[in-house]
Amino acid sequence: MESLLDTALDQAEKLVREVSALLLSDMEGREIITKSGDANFVTEIDLMVQEKVIKGLCGILPNSNIIAEETKANDFTLGKYTWILDPVDGTTNLMYGYKYSCIALGLVADGIPYAGIVYNPYLQELFTARKGKGAFVNGRPIAVTGSRTLGDSLITFGTSPYDKGKADETFRVTKNIFLKCRDVRRSGCAALDICNVAAGRMDGFYEMELQPWDYAGASVVLEEAGGCITDWDGNSLSYVHKASAIASNGHIHRELNNILRDK
Ligand code: IPD
Ligand code: CA
Ligand code: CA
Ligand code: CA
Repeated sequence: MESLLDTALDQAEKLVREVSALLLSDMEGREIITKSGDANFVTEIDLMVQEKVIKGLCGILPNSNIIAEETKANDFTLGKYTWILDPVDGTTNLMYGYKYSCIALGLVADGIPYAGIVYNPYLQELFTARKGKGAFVNGRPIAVTGSRTLGDSLITFGTSPYDKGKADETFRVTKNIFLKCRDVRRSGCAALDICNVAAGRMDGFYEMELQPWDYAGASVVLEEAGGCITDWDGNSLSYVHKASAIASNGHIHRELNNILRDK
């Protein structure tokens, strides 16, 4: 028999898929608000998605906590059930019509990352995972690659675009990684980057100082697909603070981590 939590997650998957139609709507004339930091924006679509998803989640699991990127004052504490929402991961891509953004939702239960729901409406791909039950794209099981070395790997990375003060370090380590791996990619959507590692379309990903909503859902998808995600010190990621993240197929994790740490 399906548990109440499974039923709630089924409903949350349906909700995310339905609300994602907003990402496909015309951006012409939409309001774009500048946030603090470098080239950091939020669009009317981000806010509309967030409002609809939060409203839906309140009906699905009443009394759960919700941490969401565009909420003015998030209470960064984990309750019994805490949803962590990025209403649009890849806002800059959305503004430019680049067609590479998603809704990313994670559920932390009793302090443990329990479920991930990441939907890319452009490819109609729904990445899902529940702890101990595997990872899927549109219901088909996914798994990480078997690449054993960085030399056999394709790596995607993030530039920490809203804090250009991180650029020296990001591009220094990226040069070192680029020289050792097959090639690098930069997509503009951290959650899909991590899901692509989960689906075996990339071998690894890294970015300095991501926020919990960038990786909360995708990290469960990755771990259930057999991969590994940590901070740059090799520790488990925080779900209440920002963290520099490394996601990989597991085999290349240490090699990638050593280069990021200049070892
Ligand atoms: C951003 C994207 C981007 C990453 C940034 C994130 P947003 O999220 O994931 O790829 O480089 O660090 O903040 O602002 O589009 O939700
Ligand atoms: Ca994000
Ligand atoms: Ca966002
Ligand atoms: Ca943002």
